[in-house]
Amino acid sequence: MPTINFPKDFIWGSATAAYQIEGAYNEDGRGESIWDRFSHTPGNIENGHTGDIACDHYHRYEEDIKIMKEIGIKSYRFSISWPRIFPEGTGQPNQKGLDFYKRLTNLLLENGITPAITLYHWDLPQKLQDKGGWKNRDTTDYFAEYSEEIFKNLGDIVPIWITQNEPRVVSLLGHFLGIHAPGIKDLRTSLEVSHHLMLSHGKAVKLFREMNINGQIGIAPNLSYHYPASQKPEDIAATELSFSIDARWYLDPLFKGSYPEDALEHYKNKGIELSFSQDDLKLISQPMDFLAFNNYSSSFIKYDPTSESGYTGADSIVENFEKTDMGWIVYPEGLYDLLMLLDRDYGKPNLIISENGAAFKDEISSNGRIEDIKRTQYLKDYLTQAHRAIQDGVNLKGYYLWSFMDNFEWAYGYNKKFGIVHVDLETQERKIKDSGYWYKEVIKNNGF
Ligand code: FCB
Repeated sequence: MPTINFPKDFIWGSATAAYQIEGAYNEDGRGESIWDRFSHTPGNIENGHTGDIACDHYHRYEEDIKIMKEIGIKSYRFSISWPRIFPEGTGQPNQKGLDFYKRLTNLLLENGITPAITLYHWDLPQKLQDKGGWKNRDTTDYFAEYSEEIFKNLGDIVPIWITQNEPRVVSLLGHFLGIHAPGIKDLRTSLEVSHHLMLSHGKAVKLFREMNINGQIGIAPNLSYHYPASQKPEDIAATELSFSIDARWYLDPLFKGSYPEDALEHYKNKGIELSFSQDDLKLISQPMDFLAFNNYSSSFIKYDPTSESGYTGADSIVENFEKTDMGWIVYPEGLYDLLMLLDRDYGKPNLIISENGAAFKDEISSNGRIEDIKRTQYLKDYLTQAHRAIQDGVNLKGYYLWSFMDNFEWAYGYNKKFGIVHVDLETQERKIKDSGYWYKEVIKNNGF
């Protein structure tokens, strides 16, 4: 008998994203995406890796669904490659691209696996980048056009929809730090991009309702709990500001129809005065069916007047924590605190953990198994905290483990392994890791 029992109907899922697994980057009419351009540009990705082939999922999806079925995964979150559908970003849809996602979706359904679609997981058509990308407000209309096409084709068979994945990461890493596609480094641009991503979400939700799609729709920001490095008032204030910038910047427009004042003030002090129309905010704050979020770690923040933002991560605190291969601290209580905060500050929304998992180096042992004890422990500890929050009244509906299989980890290439299924990149052979077998038991028992 498991001691930790999850609610009946809890969604046990796993997640991937198109560019990270599909490969077939120039097949069947797919257009170029900003990630093709970025990864084909030397110096951007570790070891010069690209998503050209990735896990070859485009050709191997049948085998992959078989493995999902073997693990017992109840729901599979995947993203659609926009340039597969609209190679030019807009205009004529590519039937072969649509057909691929129909085949994939139907096969999932035949196997009793609930499809959960992410509309945008970072692979903007390059043609739209050429017109200014997410900095260009028109991109929000192109996104609506693309969403409408997908809703038309898959709306009647897909019950769970996510508009945007991690707008903060697109804005910060893609347009301020320049370490993700499209590699821009400009604060003002990053903030305009951020607003347009949120606006595009609003436009997609509006369409979804107008088209009477019989499913549920939400968004998936990346969120982590921020703790002050000490109880000094300046550390506490710095922590509030950093949380406003990273998290409330997305949550407040969605739930309150406004951007957080302290963050607006912060940008104003940097010479960037932002104002947003009420119409935009109204679109963004339309009711969602759930809030999904991706969570991996937590932050400890200290006041630091010498840093550009006025605060930094408290290295001296986190140096003693266990870290994953990404250098992210393992701090499961942070998931609990985050769930409680969302529940308290944003009106008890339905919540879905749309990504959680850990990168660790794996080895195939002599018995042929992949004994990834650390990953299993991580998952167990995070799920324990998720369960604790449910016990305390949080409306957590599901959990998507990142990731179903090892894949292209953006700027790190294939060097970071998040999968519960190992992928041999030479042979494309898949092998379920011990963590995958553990997850299988969890799903079977609805707990552990
Ligand atoms: C998230 C991304 C996902 C994956 C994980 C590790 O930021 O949404 O694609 O790369 O991190």
